[in-house]
Parts: sequence; C-alpha cells; structure tokens
Amino acid sequence: MTALEKINSPPGQLGGTALYDWDYLVQEDRAHRLIYTDPAIFEAEMTQIFGGTWTYLAHESEVPNENDFITRHMGLRPLIIVRDGEGKIRALYNRCTHRGTTLCRWDKGNAKSFQCPYHGWNFLNTGRLRGVPWPDGYAEDMRDPKYNLAQVPRVESYRGFIFGTLNLDALPLAEHLGPIAKIIDEWLDRNPGGKVVVCEANRFRFKGNWKLAYDNSCDGYHVAYSHRSLLETENRFAGENAKGMAYYRNSPDAQPMYMRYTGHGNHFKDKRPNLEKRPGGLWALESAHPGMEHYEAEFLRRYGDRAFALLDLAGSEPVNINVFPNFSLLGNHIQVFEPLGVAETNAIWYGTMVVNDGSLPADAVTDINALRMRTQEGFPNFGEVDDIANFEQIQRGLMAVEDEWVYMHRGFGIPGRVKQHPDGTITAPATDEAFMREHFKEWKRLMTTRQNLAITREP
Ligand code: FES
Ligand SMILES: [Fe+2]
Repeated sequence: MTALEKINSPPGQLGGTALYDWDYLVQEDRAHRLIYTDPAIFEAEMTQIFGGTWTYLAHESEVPNENDFITRHMGLRPLIIVRDGEGKIRALYNRCTHRGTTLCRWDKGNAKSFQCPYHGWNFLNTGRLRGVPWPDGYAEDMRDPKYNLAQVPRVESYRGFIFGTLNLDALPLAEHLGPIAKIIDEWLDRNPGGKVVVCEANRFRFKGNWKLAYDNSCDGYHVAYSHRSLLETENRFAGENAKGMAYYRNSPDAQPMYMRYTGHGNHFKDKRPNLEKRPGGLWALESAHPGMEHYEAEFLRRYGDRAFALLDLAGSEPVNINVFPNFSLLGNHIQVFEPLGVAETNAIWYGTMVVNDGSLPADAVTDINALRMRTQEGFPNFGEVDDIANFEQIQRGLMAVEDEWVYMHRGFGIPGRVKQHPDGTITAPATDEAFMREHFKEWKRLMTTRQNLAITREP
C-alpha cells in the first residue's frame, strides 16, 4: 500500500478563471505563437502534459541490477529512477523532503540509500526516510509518511522502455501505445533476442520550446531543404545516385514512404517500403562513413554468406517512431526531449547496442556495436544540428508578437489525401502536416481536461 496525495490544479485556470481561450490558440490548421512562448502555458504543460500523460523516463538496461539508479527528469521534476532491492523500478522525486534540495547529485550509480548532502537525512531506495541526524531534536515522530520521498505513482515498461505518469486514470501503458506498439515491436524484433541495451548519449541543448522538436519529429517536408548539405555529401561519398538527395528527387510524396498517426499524439514516418527485403538491404541504405568498406570486407572474409545479415544489425532502421510528448526511436537511437524552460530544451540521443542471445558469432558483437556507433554518427551529428538551428530560429521568429500564427495545414482540405482507417489510425503522404494537426488535438485535450493526478509516498 502506498499513500496517494491528490494534486488539485484545475487545467488552464488561475483562481477559477479561464486563463486562455484554448480553441483560439490551437485551431485545426494553425497554432498561436503563445503556446511556444508563454511561461504560464509552459508551466501548465509541466503538469497537464508531463504529468497527465505517459512520459518516457529511461530504459531498463540503464538500471540492470538491484539498487542501480540513474537521475532523469519528467518535465521539470528531477527524478531518481531506481531498481530497488526487490527488483521493482521506481521513479523517486530527487528532492529531499526536509527543505527541498536535490538529494542525489550523481548521474548514475548503485545505492541502497541516499544521504542528503545538506543536513544528512537518509532515505532508502524505496523512498522511505531511514533516519535523520540527532533525532532527539524533533518533538514528533519522524516516521510520518509525509517525510518519505514523493514518487511517480504509475511507472510501467513496454519491452524495456520505462514510462511514468501522475495520472491515475491513464490507460495502461500498452493500451495507451496502441497501434504504435507494433511498430516498436518491429523496431526491436530485428535485433537478436528482440532487444537492445542503451550505451552512451549524444547531448544537444537548444534555445527553443520543446514542441518545436516534436513538431519536427514526423516532418518529411523539410528534409530536402534543411538537410541538403548532408544529403549532397552522402551523394558525393556514395559515388552513386541512389542515396542522399536521390531519395527526394521529384516530390518526396511520390516516393514509397508515408506517415501514420496512431492516436494519443503518437505517430511514425515510415521509409521502410524503400528497403530491399534481402540480407544487406538495410546496410545498402546506410550513408557513407569512415571505415565502412574495411568493416564490410572484414565481415565478408570472416562470415562469408552471413556477412550482410550481420551488417544489417549495424544499419539504421528507416522509421521515425514518436511517442508524445518526449520520445522517439530514430535509426538506432532513442531520442528524448527534455524541457528546461519555455525556450530551452535538451535533445538527447541515446545510442543502443545489440546483445548476443547466442545466435551471433561471439567475435561479431563488438564489431557490430562499434559499427553501430559509427553509423549513428551520420544523422545525429550532421543532421540534428540543422534541425536545432531551425528550432532556435523559429523561437526567434515567434518573438514578433503581432505576427501571431504558425501554419500546419499542408494536406488539409485536399480530398482523398489524408486517409482515416477503420482502426482509427490516419495515413498521409510524407510531407503532410496531418501528424502535427493530430498531436495538437491531443495537446489541447490534455491541457483542457481536469485530470486525476497524484504523487505517492511509502506509508
Ligand atoms: S535539505 Fe535534505 S537534509 Fe536538509
Ligand atoms: Fe530534420
């Protein structure tokens, strides 16, 4: 049993008065600049969105053993994600209950308890207050549960991906993911044992609102323009006309790729129809990078017929899977958006490795993972900077108060272009902004719904 503490915050209201006209701010085909620039809207999002829906926290491979922990954020809440002594994964508030300081100052480690650096209160990794220095100075019983660390009341994993929410009424995670769970399955199942482990991260920070990153996560419209230098470089290195810009020849909408919206703000952009279904098909799509030919020759020498199937394990999966509000699977990366303020965001790219389930030659795994890191140096290093430059420049543009609107109406109102399917999902051509129109419906729903939010503490 745990003790729930309900959070009483009427959405979008101040003293019982509606703060904003949400239907005006987010319309079907356009959004008002204020949703990207207004500190009060940002503050409401930190409860209504990063609290009201499932937010990605971490991957189970980052806390593989009992008492392992890592520190993360859910919106602006500092958290310690810990696997306690009984193997249960918890999301503890990284905030001492005495006077509120950050309890754990490490990024990761292994600890059965945490001692506050300020006055030395000591907490078990279950969140329970274990003891305080010189307890005879307190008249009351310090075993009162109110002194135990706050915790995210609902923490669930889907195939290793850990999410949390404060919303007691949220659907179970797997149901919430719905149709996108199958795409996550496909992303995982091409790896040995159907799993990956997280290695290190490539960290970016930009001066812009977090939604600018999510608005771009399924955008197939910008690629040929924003990433032109990267695509042309790929063409030059590849020495052929089948990569890079070639992919965007004529209209990208004429290419075999598309976007699908799957509900709850989630969507994916699927370039897998371009993939040749043969060993080496994925490897063939990989952009040029140093050492590639050497590895390919070495794999062919060592593994013969099997070489290309093994090289495919290093290839980047050509699908962008986005779970609202802060999680993407992109190539071989897990990308996470962490809001820091209304106009400041972390965009973190966690690399992933394959593990040997016994089906791989023992000496292949290290090389596959080394190569996986090299392939990941392509887009994350040379493409993400293009995107981040756009996010920062949008934020600047949005500071012009009298020029109010951002348009997201590409594909809107063209008969037959956007397709509704019987399972409730929506497909559209790759350059369409249908994904953005749909995730903003979910954003508005969350911002305007009174939610059943709570934190919990050990009793
Ligand atoms: S703030 Fe943590 S012990 Fe005082
Ligand atoms: Fe991009």
